[in-house]
Amino acid sequence: MGSMLVRKFTGSGIIAPADIAASSKTGISSRALAEKTGITAAPSNTAVAADADVLFICVKPAEVRSVLEETQGVLGQEALIVSIAGSVSLANLVKWAGPDHRFVRVIPSVAAEQESGISLVAWGRGIKPEDRALVLKLFNAIGTAVETDEGNFDLYADLTSCAPAYISAMMRELASAAVRTGTIEPPLAEYLLRETLIGTARILDNDSTGFDTVITRVATKGGNTEEGVKVLEARLPAVFDGVLCATRKKRQATAERLTGKR
Ligand SMILES: NC(=O)c1ccc[n+]([C@@H]2O[C@H](COP(=O)([O-])OP(=O)(O)OC[C@H]3O[C@@H](n4cnc5c(N)ncnc54)[C@H](OP(=O)(O)O)[C@@H]3O)[C@@H](O)[C@H]2O)c1
Repeated sequence: MGSMLVRKFTGSGIIAPADIAASSKTGISSRALAEKTGITAAPSNTAVAADADVLFICVKPAEVRSVLEETQGVLGQEALIVSIAGSVSLANLVKWAGPDHRFVRVIPSVAAEQESGISLVAWGRGIKPEDRALVLKLFNAIGTAVETDEGNFDLYADLTSCAPAYISAMMRELASAAVRTGTIEPPLAEYLLRETLIGTARILDNDSTGFDTVITRVATKGGNTEEGVKVLEARLPAVFDGVLCATRKKRQATAERLTGKR
């Protein structure tokens, strides 16, 4: 996700590659990114932090604490910390990096790869107007930034950052069902659905067209599609209640592990 943000921020011209330095655990991905985008591959996290006006934390939740603690000695007090890590609260960021910094949590979506989708943004205390302007400018350049309370993050993230995987998983299951009939090969089933999904997204890319409009247009009264939609309407509510319940439990468990409650 960190690499994607760098590629998009530099590709959109919103940040010059010369203004970005990145490090990674092995150094392999940061060097590859530097070769591709012209940014600097720094030899360590502290080398990045020492020069940073804005420090992006793009590691897995379990790594956030150690990266923040590692960089505290060198990170300037004026630096803004932007964390894209799921399950790591603003309170934990403050606890681990110290109360003197300013923090923002952002949950981007892989949809930003196509300059679309939503990045959720929650502000920590003490954020300056220029921080707000910068973060919104960056994330609005690669999609749409939606500001919200941190308390909404988990549920909203299911609909923004997790949803590309959910949508793809649903399409894969539809393709698999078609393949199980024994009359179509997997590549063709996937191709037919991918093209249809892309077309449907383009139809939906119009403010006046919602899901209901598309359903009504296709699943006409008494037609074949209506029968399929009835099955989905009967079975999917329980499935999606289960999806949201599973991610909520997983996030709670991760948050408790990070704060040492487990
Ligand atoms: N994937 C998504 O769609 C998505 C969406 C929203 C938010 N997020 C959040 O983004 C974060 C990263 O997720 P991801 O999917 O991008 O994971 P990922 O592909 O595993 O990337 C993690 C990166 O962190 C680097 N890293 C690990 N430990 C490090 C350390 N101690 N110091 C410096 N770099 C370190 C790794 O370096 P190496 O390359 O050298 O191993 C790797 O480049 C997570 O917190 C996740 O919650 C992800």
